[in-house]
Amino acid sequence: MADQLKIKPATGKLGVLTPGMGAVATTFIAGVVAIRKGLRLPIGSLSQMGHIRLGKRTDDRQPLVRNFVPIADLDSIAFGGWDIFEDDVYTAAKTAGVLENELLDQIKDELEQIKPMPAVFDQQYVKKLSGTHVKSGTKMELAEQLMQDMENFKTANGCDRLVVVWCGSTEIYMKESPVHADLASFEQGLRDDHADIPPSMIYAYAAIKQGIPYANGAPNLSGDVPALAELAKETGAPTCGKDFKTGQTLMKTILAPGFKARYLGLSGWFSTNILGNRDGEVLDDPESFKTKEVSKLSVLDTILQPELYPDLYGELYHKVRINYYPPRGDNKEGWDNIDIFGWCGRPMQIKVDFLCRDSILAAPLVLDLALFLDLSKRAGLPGGIQEWLSFYFKSPVTPPGLVAEHDLFIQQVKLKNTLRWMMGEEVITHLGREYYDD
Ligand SMILES: NC(=O)c1ccc[n+]([C@@H]2O[C@H](COP(=O)([O-])OP(=O)(O)OC[C@H]3O[C@@H](n4cnc5c(N)ncnc54)[C@H](O)[C@@H]3O)[C@@H](O)[C@H]2O)c1
Repeated sequence: MADQLKIKPATGKLGVLTPGMGAVATTFIAGVVAIRKGLRLPIGSLSQMGHIRLGKRTDDRQPLVRNFVPIADLDSIAFGGWDIFEDDVYTAAKTAGVLENELLDQIKDELEQIKPMPAVFDQQYVKKLSGTHVKSGTKMELAEQLMQDMENFKTANGCDRLVVVWCGSTEIYMKESPVHADLASFEQGLRDDHADIPPSMIYAYAAIKQGIPYANGAPNLSGDVPALAELAKETGAPTCGKDFKTGQTLMKTILAPGFKARYLGLSGWFSTNILGNRDGEVLDDPESFKTKEVSKLSVLDTILQPELYPDLYGELYHKVRINYYPPRGDNKEGWDNIDIFGWCGRPMQIKVDFLCRDSILAAPLVLDLALFLDLSKRAGLPGGIQEWLSFYFKSPVTPPGLVAEHDLFIQQVKLKNTLRWMMGEEVITHLGREYYDD
């Protein structure tokens, strides 16, 4: 057995701050509050519901993950965040319409106490939104105000540690540019109000600068630029992203590895969605949709490896559509038409119609990411990208030069083996015991 890492205990309170307090963030907060009161179960959360096998199969050691690794207890979490709307979490959760009113009413008093701080926002980057609950100043001044907000929140709530998880809207599509290349250029860009620094990057900078772990649940670049990777290394802030793996893409990363494992070919995969929440409205803008499209399209190539399997996947036609359709609210419908082919090239079709509740799938990911990033920080893992958390993302960020792993099952093995390794347990390779010495 390897040595266990020296992990600082999760004493005191953990503040979880979300830039963006819309459907996902409020479903996460209300859910945790309901779970704490014993009103609901944390379904969909690996950290809360999952067991992890340790040692030999015959050892029969399968503790719950939350009893195995020293993650923070749900009772120790304090919630906060920022939004361009002033609604408290109870009101915003009601507007989002994800959880039932009956449940929200039972926890109303607690949710009403949680109010967003004024946001760093610029409509140039999210065309479909406008709000007045916003800060003003140069981009550097805005970053400083965010850092002050974090410090104030920590003091006011008696927190020992903070984690920031971006749950804000998807910003317009942006590519890396010279201002992102290194920290000095980036900080100069903040002072100069450089147009290539959108609000999500200012939040990422403010958190990482203080060594606070930062996760990005949207497909925006946000923390995923060399300047912020450099900063994270310096300050020891663990980071991860991008874009929560939920809904249709979750299904894709479940199904595609299965086809690949059985060497079934794919000629086409057409995915379309209707959804009617605010996220859907934001994505109705072509510039925000482009950011999402790139994230959604990337998953199949790395799972299927068409360069290795040109006969099976070389001609795949992959198309993704998102249609804003208000009557559905958060209850998205995602259709997939999958054209596959088998033995001797004979074609077959699979139709998937997923009547999905996006934020119900995303909320447990916010929880797990907050708890695991906090664990990573206390375990002293190197700052910067935490590839072992790729399990949770549509576009997992990787260190430069590496190809992202999209296969959900490989991602799961990586996550669990990282937890085993942290705790000084053997990693599990699934190689038969008869082939090597214990
Ligand atoms: N729901 C899912 O399953 C899912 C999956 C993957 C990614 N995402 C992403 O997560 C994000 C949140 O999704 P949602 O369904 O909660 O959307 P939402 O529209 O309900 O909530 C987003 C909130 O962010 C706020 N906001 C926008 N810009 C902000 C800023 N600069 N600072 C502070 N607040 C800001 C908006 O006012 C809004 O209240 C979106 O980017 C979405 O694309 C969601």
